[in-house]
Amino acid sequence: MTAQLIDGNALSKQIRADVARRAAALGARGVTPGLAVILVGDNPASQVYVRNKVKACQDNGLHSVLEQYPATLSEADLLARVQALNNDPAIHGILVQLPLPAHIDAHKVIETISPLKDVDGFHVASAGALMVGQPGFKPCTPYGCMKMLESIGCNPKGKHAVVIGRSNIVGKPMAMLLLQASATVTICHSATPDLAHHTRQADIVVAAVGKRNVLTADMVKPGAVVIDVGMNRNDEGKLCGDVDFDGVSKVASAITPVPGGVGPMTITMLLVNTLEAAERAAQ
Ligand code: GUN
Repeated sequence: MTAQLIDGNALSKQIRADVARRAAALGARGVTPGLAVILVGDNPASQVYVRNKVKACQDNGLHSVLEQYPATLSEADLLARVQALNNDPAIHGILVQLPLPAHIDAHKVIETISPLKDVDGFHVASAGALMVGQPGFKPCTPYGCMKMLESIGCNPKGKHAVVIGRSNIVGKPMAMLLLQASATVTICHSATPDLAHHTRQADIVVAAVGKRNVLTADMVKPGAVVIDVGMNRNDEGKLCGDVDFDGVSKVASAITPVPGGVGPMTITMLLVNTLEAAERAAQ
């Protein structure tokens, strides 16, 4: 079998066109969706991420402000900035780029963001809403993965989904979204003794570990759908995911590439969440 490629760039383009159209409709009513991005310190990867987020806003008719602070910024000053943005009517979404410097309690910062502006979906109120099936912002990466499944007509209902990874940002919310879509969900992680035993039974595998070759062809049921959330570098410095793409794409029925898979979808869903925050505020 040669797997169908789930093209995150193409799907992003479609969804972003819809975002731009809805942003223009809001604009006609005098509301421009606004995203504030806060970056503390000079982590080079974070700098690239926030630049891409701000550019995606500009390209699709959203207003964005990037606030950059030195790594020496105090926790109290950061909390004060978040509070000010909570009270700023031109800002509908607030994103504090992680990781934060060690002297700042990231949990405290995230909990200071108003749940109404928590477009990352990291606040405990957002996580709780997802858990009990109430409206709230869904974390962008797992939300994007669900859109990718939908784009190929893969309905998780009645399927066995295996999520590899249990982070608060991807693994746990991914499992909740799949459960909400009526999949039977298994969460595997670093203490799972026989990962292949679980993945071989899966109709859908989501790999979100941050380690190369976590999933190889012998671990995949023929015809399974494989979503690769990983972002790693191989020995030649080339970007690669958690999945052995060459091997697994011969067994799976559909697979996301890295790059060009989940990556662009994460930013796309951030735009969707920001737009929806603005639409709710304008109601
Ligand atoms: N750091 C890595 N990914 C993310 C993300 O999606 N949101 C934020 N705020 N920080 C991150």
